[in-house]
Amino acid sequence: MAKVRAYTNIALIKYWGKSDLNWNLPTSSSIGLTLDRFYTDTSVEIDQFSKKDFFQQLNGQQIEGPKISKIINFIRNSCGNKNFVKVISENHVPTSAGLASSASAFAALTKAASQAFGLELDNRELSKIARIGSGSASRSIFGGFSIWHKGQNKDDSFAESILDPVDFDIRVIDILADKRVKKISSSQGMQLAQTSPNYDSWLKKNDRQIDEMLKAISDHDLEKIGLIAETNSASMHELNRTAKVPFDYFTENTREIIAEVDQLYKKGILAFATVDAGPNVKVITNSEYQEKIINVLKEYGEILVQKPGRGVANV
Ligand code: DP6
Repeated sequence: MAKVRAYTNIALIKYWGKSDLNWNLPTSSSIGLTLDRFYTDTSVEIDQFSKKDFFQQLNGQQIEGPKISKIINFIRNSCGNKNFVKVISENHVPTSAGLASSASAFAALTKAASQAFGLELDNRELSKIARIGSGSASRSIFGGFSIWHKGQNKDDSFAESILDPVDFDIRVIDILADKRVKKISSSQGMQLAQTSPNYDSWLKKNDRQIDEMLKAISDHDLEKIGLIAETNSASMHELNRTAKVPFDYFTENTREIIAEVDQLYKKGILAFATVDAGPNVKVITNSEYQEKIINVLKEYGEILVQKPGRGVANV
């Protein structure tokens, strides 16, 4: 039996569109930072006597069964072992409120399943398989900062480490203002966003921001990292509002929190807002400013401070 833990990651440059639905190939490269508080533990065990796979998801996790099967079947086929498996997955992430539970879930499942079937895959190979379950999971294979290269086909769309361990002071503050399940999943949201007349220019901007972000990370420049991430997030959400069927993940709370973060930055505090496919705001900052930010934002909901986290590992 193999048991693996994987952590969620926050997208600093967002993945928001697919060029191939079956293999989950993205329209652009993306950059993430794996964090240290929200995670999934998954165990996979070969069951020689079973006639089908068994999946159990604890803590209300709602990863779709067919997607789990896709990963398991891919691994089973690639090693020619016909046995069925028992998968038990325990989620420690508020599910589906834009906190990326699918990223940690598919990263953990991929490593645990490949180990259970006796495959020794490096992280790059694992990232390609995790990607099939959920694109952002490719980045959760790695600790710290990682990049998911969009690639051209199923074999060269993989993630790799940019900086791990992270040797500078960065914090991500989650404000859990809304723990409800999102109405529009990431997959649905990005499909709608791709109908926006601004989609192509958004892609070009994303490409430029990838280069700027890589430089900011290599310079350890927190302010630049934050400013680029904030702009990138704002334009992803703007895209949603200009889709053929417009939609918006933001709530009144989201807008108010972003306005507070803007005010804090104007007062000289390093605070930058980013939002994934849900209403919850994450604030990028460092240990020096975190208390000041928490004091302002705690009235909006439960606060959690995260540091850079580890890549997938056995537990
Ligand atoms: C906004 O990885 O959840 O968080 O591949 O369809 O499962 P699927 O999508 P998913 O999308 C994440 C979207 C995002 C941005 C990001 O993490 O890059």
